[in-house]
Amino acid sequence: MLKRVDYDLTQHAGYAKGRALLPLSRANWLRAFREHAGTGPVRTVLDVGSGTGRFTPVLADGFAADVTGVEPSERMREIAQAEAAHPDVTYLPGSAAELPVPDASADLALMFLVWHHVPDKAAAAAELARALRPGARLLIATTLSDRLKDLLIYRYFPRTKEIDTALFPSRAETAELFAEVGFDEAALVEVHHRSSDTLAEYAERQRMRALSVYEHLTDEEYEEGMAALEADAAAETEPTPVEAECDLLVLARR
Ligand SMILES: C[S@@+](CC[C@H](N)C(=O)[O-])C[C@H]1O[C@@H](n2cnc3c(N)ncnc32)[C@H](O)[C@@H]1O
Repeated sequence: MLKRVDYDLTQHAGYAKGRALLPLSRANWLRAFREHAGTGPVRTVLDVGSGTGRFTPVLADGFAADVTGVEPSERMREIAQAEAAHPDVTYLPGSAAELPVPDASADLALMFLVWHHVPDKAAAAAELARALRPGARLLIATTLSDRLKDLLIYRYFPRTKEIDTALFPSRAETAELFAEVGFDEAALVEVHHRSSDTLAEYAERQRMRALSVYEHLTDEEYEEGMAALEADAAAETEPTPVEAECDLLVLARR
């Protein structure tokens, strides 16, 4: 059993910098969100597990909508309020299982790299069903255990692949859980995500240890991987972008 990651302890510190979105990735994700937002106007959006607000203002601008960022970690919320403020965004305390919004009030919800952190997934699915109006879409950007990608992190930190397999539910498990509370799977698409323009930049970001999976590694495992990565980064002659096709599961509220 893997321990829960508490973003109030360490992860908040390097998150905004270590996980900053490159313009290319921001554009690719927004395009996918817009393509899969369903029919009908999108005026009210929930960013569930909004963290430091990486996507929250992007949603407000991209949909010209009011966005509520719901985030349980006080430290992550404080950073969002300070660094990702937007006139149409409100950051509120809460969690996927306790959304501080009325019934059927949201036209769209995003959960970006949040689902694996949610302890009571059945309660969260039911709560999301309560908050979204009929016909609304729920966009879940997540790793799925039966669709692991060939990520660079697995090469330098091999045990992270094992951890991801244990941590993430499969596509079928996720779709079934949501089907029980009133969602149909509308699509599963891949979004091209570039996390760094060069290996050197990637190494610098990994040095911030701002990935929750690193909390499950020993310091020795982490340092061993970093040494190999930093050696390769130092030997980089041509810029090597670090990219992956990431899954976006699209669920439609019945
Ligand atoms: C990897 S971060 C993603 C943050 C943001 N969505 C992003 O993409 O930058 C995961 C976030 O989920 C939050 N989180 C953890 N448990 C949660 C829950 N039960 N409901 C909602 N958010 C949760 C964490 O506090 C953290 O801010």
